Amino acid sequence: MVLPIYLYGHPVLRKVAEEVTPEYPALAELIANMKDTMYASDGIGIAAPQVGVSIKLVYIDVDVLGEDMPELKGVNMVLINPEVTVIEDGNVTQREEGCLSLPGIHESVKRTEKINLKWTDENWEQHEQVIEGYLARVVQHECDHLDGKVFIDHVSPIRKQLNRSKLNNIIKGNVRCHYRTRGFKPLKK
Ligand code: NI
Repeated sequence: MVLPIYLYGHPVLRKVAEEVTPEYPALAELIANMKDTMYASDGIGIAAPQVGVSIKLVYIDVDVLGEDMPELKGVNMVLINPEVTVIEDGNVTQREEGCLSLPGIHESVKRTEKINLKWTDENWEQHEQVIEGYLARVVQHECDHLDGKVFIDHVSPIRKQLNRSKLNNIIKGNVRCHYRTRGFKPLKK
């Protein structure tokens, strides 16, 4: 089932998400709904707070980028309770990011594209892996959502200021996009 995407300005995107326990009700259903929602909105990653659920759960599918970055072909992952540690000797790159919760905004974000990632998968198996390159960036972007952060927080104050009117429109729910959204304030008539 496709769920609405919560927009920038909604307080759920600013909360630190709760740890997920194996007893969490209907987790498989939530994961399935997050997948449906992400594919319906042409995203490559989605975090549970973006569908209004403040728990540490992320889904990533970067297969669509496999044309340009062959290492991403067929790569998808469910991350439950992910823990990211940036590995400082990694490549620091500046690349454009966007977010389903900030439609129409794209800004360059500096990140170290090498991380150690610990996570639990949907079968409740634990993993730990060093991840490099673009996938490391996507994982950091999604895991930021679990800490109540969004990519615009990494952008310089000047660049943020240049996006001020767009951000204000998103906060007010004045956005046009091809997927269902939910703003904090009701849409203006
Ligand atoms: Ni995002």
